[in-house]
Amino acid sequence: MVYKELKERIHWIINQNEYSINKRMTLICRTLKDTNDYYDWVGFYFANHDAKTLHLEAFAGVPTDHTIIPFGKGICGQVANAGKNFVVDDVKAQNNYISCNIHVKAEIVIPLFKDGINIGQLDVDSHTLNPFSKKDEYLLEWVNEKVALIL
Ligand code: SME
Repeated sequence: MVYKELKERIHWIINQNEYSINKRMTLICRTLKDTNDYYDWVGFYFANHDAKTLHLEAFAGVPTDHTIIPFGKGICGQVANAGKNFVVDDVKAQNNYISCNIHVKAEIVIPLFKDGINIGQLDVDSHTLNPFSKKDEYLLEWVNEKVALIL
């Protein structure tokens, strides 16, 4: 993958002010998924801090039943509480994991901060074992920083 081109494309999407925020986030998910052969599902969840739940706002890949996730449940729910990147090389090694699809072998969840508050997250599932590196963390952190600017 050519990161420079990918970032330019995401920049372009972010700046399409005539598109709704949901449309821009959906396009970002699609772009990330289509550009990385080991990104098989990509989605943004956002937090309801009163209800302590995460809500799926935009995604690319097969639809999931897990559109609402309580804080603390699964990898996503743990990131809602901890506010730190969570890289899972092998989902079978996790006790607190919500399976969306039997083909998923690994997952990365990156919190999204707005004004220092953990308001959501970017979640990527992979059908490949142990596929993620620091490069993925930096890329997805960068995406979240850009998305935060339009929220
Ligand atoms: N696997 C996640 C749930 C969300 S799906 O991957 C789309 C988790 O354990 O939180």
